[in-house]
Amino acid sequence: MAADSSVNFNLLHRTCKLVVLLCFLHITVTVFFYVRSLDIPFAFVQNQQSHNNGTGTELKRTLDAGPSPTFQPKTESLDKCPETSPLLVGPMRVEFNNPVSLELIKKENQHIEPGGRYKPKDCKALQKVAIIIPFRKRDEHLKYWLYYLHPILQRQQLDYGVYVINQDGDEIFNRAKLLNVGYAEALKDYDYECFVFSDVDLIPMDDRNTYKCFSQPRHLSVSMDKFGFRLPYNQYFGGVSSMSKEQFLTINGFPNNYWGWGGEDDDIYNRLASKGMSISRPSNEVGKCRMIRHVRDKQNEPNPQRFDRIAHTRETMNKDGIKSLSYKLVSKQTLDLFTKITVDIGKP
Ligand code: BGC
Repeated sequence: MAADSSVNFNLLHRTCKLVVLLCFLHITVTVFFYVRSLDIPFAFVQNQQSHNNGTGTELKRTLDAGPSPTFQPKTESLDKCPETSPLLVGPMRVEFNNPVSLELIKKENQHIEPGGRYKPKDCKALQKVAIIIPFRKRDEHLKYWLYYLHPILQRQQLDYGVYVINQDGDEIFNRAKLLNVGYAEALKDYDYECFVFSDVDLIPMDDRNTYKCFSQPRHLSVSMDKFGFRLPYNQYFGGVSSMSKEQFLTINGFPNNYWGWGGEDDDIYNRLASKGMSISRPSNEVGKCRMIRHVRDKQNEPNPQRFDRIAHTRETMNKDGIKSLSYKLVSKQTLDLFTKITVDIGKP
């Protein structure tokens, strides 16, 4: 009996030892592969960069085994900007009581290049963004837009250009067609990979609402003062939105045949939904924005055909869009704070 229990005890003892040994082996192998998967020097540089306002370049150079930076073009040697810019300030005061002048905006934004172009000096921007603004006779609004947006976009560390697409003549306005023109014209200038489509009278109230692209099309103006700081309806995609080149091309761009106010943004939503895409949005807090109050523009009355058109997006979208876009370029001006493209887009 005593011998039996001693055998059992020995067996149990050996089994336990084996289990402990196996656990130890398992942990060792896991730790080994985990440590190997970490790119420790890179992670360190990234960390430094986000704490040092994008100035991790020097540190990266000391870690790189490559040639001395004096033999490299500057942009090549820059680190990527961090995912979240360290320059952001969060909520901002936005008001339209005092008019602003172009001279003041230029003075306050000395790093902006002709045509309203900018890219960060200390890090390589994560995206090249073209900002497209459909426009006609809204110079006062444009000044506020430039006054508020240039500093925000610089703090967001984007490589960006501002394109104001001015509809020539006095025919009825066509927002979506102007946006298509902006897409096509901006690509003639630079290899933009992301497009932000913004109304001229919408100003974000929080710079954490980054004007860039996401894995799904982005609706940026989600919390407008005009709608009591909430979405007017779930499918709303008007005001300010962004799309990567690929997302834009997947839906054949925007419709060209919505003349007058309304419906074109709903058509764009339908296009996205029909291709199985969903809408990405910032939170209501980050997505707050103000609209500059104004009376309705002449030649932009509500489009009575919009309800019928929206009902048929799926049938029309492959024929009508960026592939069928036609327009006449009237002029292209590279101004100090933006590129102004004046176009004849015809009439209904
Ligand atoms: C129109 C949209 C507009 C929205 C909010 C809808 O009825 O079709 O174009 O953006 O109202 O004003």
